[in-house]
This record gives sequence, structure tokens and C-alpha cells, in this order.
Amino acid sequence: MNAKAQLILNDPAYKGVLPADFAFGSATASYQVEGAIDADGKGPCVWDECLRNQDNGDLACDSYHQWKEDLKLLKQYGCRVYRFSIAWSRVKPLGGRDDPINEAGIKYYSDMVTAGIVPWVTIFHWDHPAALEKRYEGFFNDTEVVQDFVSYAKLCFDSFGDRVKNWITINEPHIFTMQSSSSYKQPQWVHKQDHARFAKSLLLCHARTVDLYRKEYQQRQGGRIGIVYNCDWVEPVNDSPEAKAAADFAREWVMGFYADPVFLGKFPDSVAEYLGDLLPQFTEEEWSLIKGSTEFFGWNHYGSQYASGKRLETDNPRLVSFGSIERVFEKDGKVIGNKGEAGHPYDVPWGFRKLMRYIHNRYTGPANIPIFITECGFSIDGEANMTFEERIHDTQRQDYYAGYLKELLEAVRDDKIDCHGFMAWSLMDNLEWLYGYGKRFGITAVDMENGCKRTPKDSAALLKTLFDYSIAK
Ligand code: NOJ
Repeated sequence: MNAKAQLILNDPAYKGVLPADFAFGSATASYQVEGAIDADGKGPCVWDECLRNQDNGDLACDSYHQWKEDLKLLKQYGCRVYRFSIAWSRVKPLGGRDDPINEAGIKYYSDMVTAGIVPWVTIFHWDHPAALEKRYEGFFNDTEVVQDFVSYAKLCFDSFGDRVKNWITINEPHIFTMQSSSSYKQPQWVHKQDHARFAKSLLLCHARTVDLYRKEYQQRQGGRIGIVYNCDWVEPVNDSPEAKAAADFAREWVMGFYADPVFLGKFPDSVAEYLGDLLPQFTEEEWSLIKGSTEFFGWNHYGSQYASGKRLETDNPRLVSFGSIERVFEKDGKVIGNKGEAGHPYDVPWGFRKLMRYIHNRYTGPANIPIFITECGFSIDGEANMTFEERIHDTQRQDYYAGYLKELLEAVRDDKIDCHGFMAWSLMDNLEWLYGYGKRFGITAVDMENGCKRTPKDSAALLKTLFDYSIAK
């Protein structure tokens, strides 16, 4: 057993610290795992088109055919919940509110939600129908989309809501905006005006869906609904006011842009300043729907970085998408933590704890609602080039999870933070969007050359052991 994990297991002060109904599980998303992109009436999604000539989701993990195997693994890993998403174009191939429904797609998800593991269902994890994007010449440009989105969500509630009690409207709106907005042509990083336009549309898609659920379904179906944000911790690299302001802004831009409206009923001042005249405007009626439109704080977290305090004067949309602040990874010659695969942040357990406190203080404490960690995981640098044995004995991922879980247990026990769930990203190695299959987060290895055979990694067993120990009986 990993040494850090052993420390937890040897210490009775960690035993049974998590509530008995803690939602331990793992997560995936439709386009990243399903494959079968045109099976049984499914329509193309934007990614099918834009990734045609590179690593894409044509096969992915073949979960469309092997989902029963996936559920077996989840049970073997002691998971109580499975977070997965519905592919919009599998249930409604053309996507629009008046377009036909694909019964075969409905049956696929219907079978899955009946199979005996608690489903956490993401309605939108970035793979909207290509037909819609074409119809509106760039998907979230148009408020028509809000009506299509709500109608698609309604189909989900009608078809699965008798069995699904945990709904997520949208996964990581900020990151979706950053990398997938114009995706049917060519994925690209976007400018400030796109961020502003998308925020308006996505916040309305979310809030109107929640409104519909609360008015027409919640009482009868008895579920909860919310949204998932992403945020890494950004620490000022020194005590200068510039570094502190940059670190604050990094959080407010990536998370606060979408979380402040929902929790506080307004945009952060720093975001208003960054966007200037572009800041989205809502009517009073719209604000009243947006504020309070979540019943949990869904939080995807990976790692941490430092802000140097230098603001970058640049139009480069990739940097603009990250708030135009300079990020660095060393302080006093010491790297912030173990580095993940390119483009992903560092393994920094203390950053995870700090951000949990921040979320608790700013959002969930005052609103008195729980945090659910809906994704957390580590992509080992160079994992795709390791031997099979090395990949299965995923030492660095085990270290990561043991370190993060220790902080989670202490946050719940000592900081009294109401964190009610933890879903490892990901149940299996899968398509990491624009990065392809080279970047891996799975607690299960998938051999795409051999029928997508699944092999558990050691991190899966570690998570099982640690959660068995720390969830109250
Ligand atoms: C967040 C996204 O929700 C997921 O789709 C992605 O694969 C992971 N982060 C890792 O980057």
C-alpha cells in the first residue's frame, strides 16, 4: 500500500470521518468514452466533425457496447455513484426543440440508470449536436439555443427522472467556452467577446432548466439539480499586492464568473472590469432565475499554480481565456508539486484544501448547501509511453489521491466543511478532448488495440480502501 495512504489507515482519527451517505464514485463523459458515434440513429456532435483528422471519439472506450463492464468495475471499486453524461445527439440527433427523438438512444441511458448504481447525470458535457451549431452558425451565439437546451433537458427529465435523482445541467461552462465554442469548424481558444456571449447563453440555459425542473418535476421525482464548476487553486507567489490581486482574479474569472451570479446574484467586480462593456446584461426576471439556481456546488478540481502578479498585455485568446495573468510553478526555486502531463496543473494537496475553504466561505457556507467533488484526478506525465506494468501500478496517481484524500478528511473533520461526495476522474483512460489519448487520467487502463479491454490500476484499489475506512458505517 502507498505510504501516504498507509498513514491514513494507521490513524483512527480518520476512520469514519465522512458521512454515511457520502457519494464516493467515479466519472466519465459521453463523447470521451462511448464511441459508436453513429450507431442506432445517433446524430453527429460537434466533436465528430472537428476531430475527424486526429484522435477522436469514434471508438473511445467503446462504452456504448461495454457499459455493463463499466458498471461491474464501479461496483468492484466500491463506488456508490457513477457520474456520466448524456450525449444530446444520441437522444435527439438534430438537437432542436421540434426535432425528432431517437428511441434507441433513450433506451441506452434508460438501461444504464436502472442497473443498480446511483446515477449522477450531466445533461451537457460539451458534445452538442453538430446540426444545431450549423443551424445557428455557431452554437451559443443565439438565444434560440436556450429553448432547445431546455427542451432537451425536459426530454431527459421525462425519460429518466423517475430514476435519476442527481442532475447536473452543465459541466464546466468556462472551460467549455474556452475550447469548444466554435468547434464544428476548428476548436479554438476564444476572445473576451465570446466569453461574454457564452456566459449569457449558458447561464440562461442552466437557470431556465433548473426553473423547469423545480416547477414541473422536483416534487414528483424528488431529485436535486445543480451545476459543475472547475477551479484550480492559484496562490500568490509572494506577498505583493499584484500577486495577490492576480491570484484572486484567476479564481474570479474561471469560477466566479459563473458561480457569483448563481450564489451571489451578480458578477465579480474584477470580471466586470476585465470585460468592460462586454459584461453580459440580464433582466430582473433573468437574475431572479439565476440567483439560487443550484442545490449543490459541483466542483471539478485538479491542481494548483502560482500567480506572479504580472498581467499579460496580450490578445492571445488562450491567455485571455485564463485571465491574462502570468502563472508560474516555482517559488524560491522549489516546484509547487508533482507535475502532471502537459497542460495540466500540479499535484498540490494543500491547494485543494485552501480552495475548498474558499468555496465554503464564499459560496456554500452562507448558502448552506453541500460541496460535491464531481471530478478529481491526475494525469501522470508520460503515462502513455510507460510499460503496461508501470501504468497499472500508477504510483504517482496513488500518491496524488492519498494526499488529496487526507486533506478532504481534515477539511470535513476539522474545518467542518460539508463535502458530501468525491468522484474520481476518470473511471478509465479516455479521449482527453484536444489532447487525444496521450493524456490519461483513468483508474482503469483501456487497451484500444484489443477490444478496449479494461484493466484496473492500483489507484482504484487505493481509493476503495481509503473510502471504506473513512466513510462512517
Ligand atoms: C474536466 C472535464 O470535465 C473533463 O471532460 C476532462 O477530461 C477533465 N477535466 C480532465 O481535463
